Formats: sequence, structure tokens, C-alpha cells
Amino acid sequence: MKLLKILVIDDEKLIRWSFEKHLNVKGYKVFLAESGEEGIELFEKHYPDIVFVDNRLPGIQGLDVIPKIKAIDEDAVIVFMTAYGSIDAAVTAMKNGANEYINKPFSFGEVNLLIENIKNNININTEIKLLRRQQRDKITFDNIIGQAPVFKQIVQVSKKIARSETTTVLLLGESGTGKDLFARAIHNESNRRDNPFVTINCSTLPDTLLESELFGHEKGAFTDAKKLKKGLFEIAEGGTVFLDEIGEINLATQVKLLSVLENRTIKRLGSTSEIPVDIRIIAATNKDLVESIQQKAFREDLYYRLKVFQIDLPPLREHREDIPLLIDYFILMFNNLFNKKIKEVDPSAEELLLLYDWPGNIRELRNVMERAIILESSDIIQPESLTCEINAPAETTMVAGLGDPYLFDIPEEGISLEDVEKQLIVQALQKSGYNQTKASKMLGISRDTLRYKKKKFGL
Ligand SMILES: Nc1ncnc2c1ncn2[C@@H]1O[C@H](COP(=O)(O)OP(=O)(O)OP(=O)(O)O)[C@@H](O)[C@H]1O
Ligand SMILES: [Mg+2]
Repeated sequence: MKLLKILVIDDEKLIRWSFEKHLNVKGYKVFLAESGEEGIELFEKHYPDIVFVDNRLPGIQGLDVIPKIKAIDEDAVIVFMTAYGSIDAAVTAMKNGANEYINKPFSFGEVNLLIENIKNNININTEIKLLRRQQRDKITFDNIIGQAPVFKQIVQVSKKIARSETTTVLLLGESGTGKDLFARAIHNESNRRDNPFVTINCSTLPDTLLESELFGHEKGAFTDAKKLKKGLFEIAEGGTVFLDEIGEINLATQVKLLSVLENRTIKRLGSTSEIPVDIRIIAATNKDLVESIQQKAFREDLYYRLKVFQIDLPPLREHREDIPLLIDYFILMFNNLFNKKIKEVDPSAEELLLLYDWPGNIRELRNVMERAIILESSDIIQPESLTCEINAPAETTMVAGLGDPYLFDIPEEGISLEDVEKQLIVQALQKSGYNQTKASKMLGISRDTLRYKKKKFGL
């Protein structure tokens, strides 16, 4: 593999220095930035393979740096660094496009492990991307897992609506509940399936750009309009337009969208002629549109035009009985993708998965499973392979500034994660004077998890 390039965006000098020191010896090329602005600049110049970005930065915040980098290169691999306990920030980061996150304080053992995993992924990435694309193109209701009564009913009506070719659909639900998946399934199970499915995320483009993307423009419509450009509504002719994050569009664009829905025609920017379009519109948002209407940020008439058929996807915590099914599904899926032979989830790990609250819904479960399947060395997923939020539910408190955070560096010949873990547990117990509460806090795990691990390691 070519020389790995890593960009670190952090305003703390010590962190930058440590990354440089630890990663240079590994032979990686390291770029350092003190601010988000500088980071984005460096990214555009060098196209690094991995970006580590801190959340708290002097200018633009880490959470906002992520989509900016993704807009430059959607394949950028981004690791979000956040204080332990800020689950919300981590969830938002993943939503904004981060691939991984790491809790501060961390050890360079963890960082190296993460990089190794990412490296392995980058190698198979092209293949996976192809596979994923093929998978995405083929998504039908067979790919939508869920047997809970609430969920099953939604799938059934969605199948019916798929066949009603022009009905506008509004998909509502928290992040990661499957809005994207439903939009694709509806398209693929409709007679429009052989025509385009075009999707646009309304929150990522500035207003003027969004309009020209959607409606297209005539040559000379504005300074940069050097040639005629067809908009997505025209490109999607005969197919489906998926307007993701519809809650973010501005009022002027809302008026134009309303006219598309009412007249089934569009006007390119800089033109007065109406072009008829045959499309189905599916819109999605995790925003409360009724509240946006009250705040005069969303037009009520547009809302009613969109919600001809409304689908409310429930958060995962409201259909927990589907968790075991989803787990099996993701095991199959990632065994396939990563060439692994995971059989099942250990009962103690399954219990953790069943109890967890899943603020990031099915996407979060999928990510947790993906990571666990990569990390797991046996054929049964153990609790240790799950991310720490799941291992240490809410009761743990944030640990900050426990002295030097960089405890380990993986030696060239490698090291067993279990050994490292055991050593850390012994150390925490010694340092806390064998006080289990203190020791578990030091490790950022719950007391139950600590007890479980002590038993496991025979301590
Ligand atoms: N019922 C399901 N069965 C299988 N996989 C699912 C299901 N629901 C969601 N997923 C998976 O979870 C991930 C997130 O789903 P999706 O992108 O559709 O969520 P979303 O509601 O569009 O989220 P956001 O609001 O953040 O855009 C996807 O990888 C999808 O494959
Ligand atoms: Mg989505």
C-alpha cells in the first residue's frame, strides 16, 4: 500500500505533537492543523487518507469540519475525537459523516489499532464501495428488517404506496431509522424502477446552488452559468426524486417546490417556459415540521402537499424486539463483506445490545456490529468488541485529565488486546487501592463490566 497520509486537526499542541511523534515512527506522513480552517486547506492540498479532528476548535467546530471535508472528498475517512461521555456529539459526528470516533483521553495503542482497521478497510474499500453501490441499487423491502407489529405495518403500507406511482411520500423519523432505505425500496418496487432515482441532501448545499441543482439553469442565467444545465427534476424523468433533509430548505425554494408539486412542471433558472416532468417526490426529514411551520420556517401548504402519504419510522428503542433479527442480519452482511465467520453474539454481549438506548437507531447498531465483527478474533462476539458506550451505559461519569493519556504504543510485533486490557484493569485496581467504583471510573466502564472482566481474567 502507498504511504498512508494522516491529517490531525487539534488546537492542543501536545496532542498534535504526540500524533506526530507516534505516527512518524510508523512511517506515516503526518500533517498538522491548529484549526478547522487550516485543516480544510491542508486537506484540499494533500488529500490525506485519514483525518483526526477534535471537536472543540478555535474557529469552525469539529462537527462542522466533517461535512466540509466530505464535500471535498466523500471517501475521506474521518475520525472524530471527543471527550468521554459526549455521546451526543459522537452521534452527530457520525451523522455528519465521521467514520469513527475516539474518546479522549486515549492511548496511542487505541489510535494505532484504529488506523490498522481503517487501513484494512481502505484496502478492501474499493471492493466494498462497489458492493455497497450494487446493494444500494438493489434495495427492496427484502433488505428492510423488522417484524415488530408497528414496523411490519409500516412496511406493508409502504409496499402498497410503492405501486401507486405518483403519490408523494413524506418520510419522518429520527436519524438512522431507515428513511433512506425506505425511499430506495419504494422506488425499486415501483414501475419507476428502471428510471433514475436521484437524491439530494437539501442541507448540504447553499440555497442558490440547491436551486440550480434542482431546477437547472439556462446558459447565461447568472455569471457562472456558462452552459445550459438540466436540474435533477429533469434528470429524474420517469423516476423518483428523493429530497433528503427537506426541513432545511429556505422559503423561496419552498415556493418553487410547491409549484412543482401542484403543476408537475419546472422552470429552469433564467427561463420562463414551463417544462412538464413525470416524477415521484419522496421527501424526508428528522425535523419536526409542525414546529417549523409554527416558527414560520416551513410553509404549511407545502407540508400538506408533501404529506399526501406520511410514513413515521419509529426509533429503534420503540421496537427493541427487532434487535436480535437485525443483529443476525448484520452478522450475515459483514461476514460477507469482511470474509469473517462470526456465528453469533455472546449472551452477555447480546444483553448489552438489548438494553442500550440506541440514540443513533439502526445506523448505530449497524456501526457497532460492523466494528465488533472487524475487531472480534473468535467466532462469537464478546462484550469487549462492542463500543464503550454500550459496555458502559449512562451510569459512568466523564473522566478527564487522568494524567498522561498515552499509555501504550503497539510494538511492531503486535500485542494482544486482551493482554492490554488485563494490564489496564490491574493498573486501575492498584491505583484506586482496589476500590471498584474508582477503578471502573478510571477505565470509563460500569462497575458491572469491571466485575465481569475481573472474573474473566481471573483477577
Ligand atoms: N429496517 C432496517 N433493516 C436493515 N437495515 C436498516 C434498517 N433501517 C436502517 N438500516 C440501516 O441503517 C443505516 C441508516 O439507515 P438510513 O440511512 O436509511 O437512515 P436515515 O433515517 O436516512 O438517517 P438520517 O436521518 O441520518 O439520514 C443504513 O445503513 C441502513 O442500511
Ligand atoms: Mg438519510
